[in-house]
Amino acid sequence: MADKTRVVVLYGGRSGEHEVSLKSAASAFRHLDRSRFEVIPVSVDKAGRWQLNDLHALDLAQTVSLPILPDAPEIRLARGPDGRGVLMPIAQGAPVEIDVVFPVMHGPLCEDGTVQGLLELADVAYVGSGVLASAVSMDKDVAKRLAAFAGIPVAPYRVLTRKEFARDRSSSLARAAEGLSLPVFVKPCNMGSSVGIHKVKTWDALGAALDDAFRYDVKVLVEQGIDAREIEVAVLEGETLFASLASELNPNAHHEFYSYEAKYLDPDGARVDLPARLDAAQMARVQSLATQVFAALECSGFARVDFFLDRKSGEFCFNEINTLPGFTSISMYPKMMEASGVPYPELLTRLVNLALDRHEQRQSLERGYVS
Ligand SMILES: Nc1ncnc2c1ncn2[C@@H]1O[C@H](COP(=O)(O)OP(=O)(O)O)[C@@H](O)[C@H]1O
Ligand SMILES: [Mg+2]
Repeated sequence: MADKTRVVVLYGGRSGEHEVSLKSAASAFRHLDRSRFEVIPVSVDKAGRWQLNDLHALDLAQTVSLPILPDAPEIRLARGPDGRGVLMPIAQGAPVEIDVVFPVMHGPLCEDGTVQGLLELADVAYVGSGVLASAVSMDKDVAKRLAAFAGIPVAPYRVLTRKEFARDRSSSLARAAEGLSLPVFVKPCNMGSSVGIHKVKTWDALGAALDDAFRYDVKVLVEQGIDAREIEVAVLEGETLFASLASELNPNAHHEFYSYEAKYLDPDGARVDLPARLDAAQMARVQSLATQVFAALECSGFARVDFFLDRKSGEFCFNEINTLPGFTSISMYPKMMEASGVPYPELLTRLVNLALDRHEQRQSLERGYVS
């Protein structure tokens, strides 16, 4: 028992994707290899409270969403006497030593570098990207700027801030539309799950779409709409970066785009082709672009990279990257990896080992001047 690596599955979180996280975490919890790992479930509720859950009695085969137990003791992450991360009960009890944290949470305050910063301060190894890559990947504007700087095509877009929109609505509207043609997509910069996204088909509708998007973020993108196929690639770090077979998401024709409804409310919201119906050259191109994006954004561990394939030009452009992609058994990341020869349990083992390696490398760095 003592020689097993202690892996904290951190789940829930303070984002709108809390419920998705409970599902992702149930899947990860079930598939982590118990011959190597002792798995410790730590939840973060919507108020931000961390709790240590004893899920021994849980029937995992029947568990779709990992529960947060009402009587689970509250804990906090701290540095133990030897400088390693521990879970410290708030009320009473001994600290629980841990080796690695797997944040199976999505969205703002989970995937955007904030939790990663907390884990850095506690000197604990964690799965996935670090603070920098998590933060820039969550910001649709900065992520696209870095990708474009690396020579990766992105759709043309304008950025508006809530301040300037409030100050001068009409000139902001004019600037937002400049050089773009209808339809355009209005998107809050830091959201996910298509929340606050609007497809705008007449310029008259732009103002209302911006009003709504500014409810979710202070920075909003107005992006050229592309008549496109939606292609996703899973990237996994190794000796070299490994790109999975790409998949294609085909939102059902009665949805205007891959909206929140199509993603979560409509069981027939989208059809998935895995592998995507691409010729060999297209497949190789999108896989290469995916690893280029991963590298340009300085990601670690894993990420899902999403592209548009323009039906007219036949060109791919980078849309967005998810540094903590959905991890339910029907989520695209594990499915793409599985289809590419990496079964779910092995994927988890590799992610944990990558986290430990990365931590060790960073721990070996000098923190001050050495003569
Ligand atoms: N420029 C665009 N052209 C065409 N469709 C788009 C564009 N931007 C977004 N969409 C549609 O909106 C969906 C959600 O946008 P996306 O940028 O992926 O945000 P989210 O982070 O919420 O998934 C996409 O999957 C796609 O269907
Ligand atoms: Mg998306």
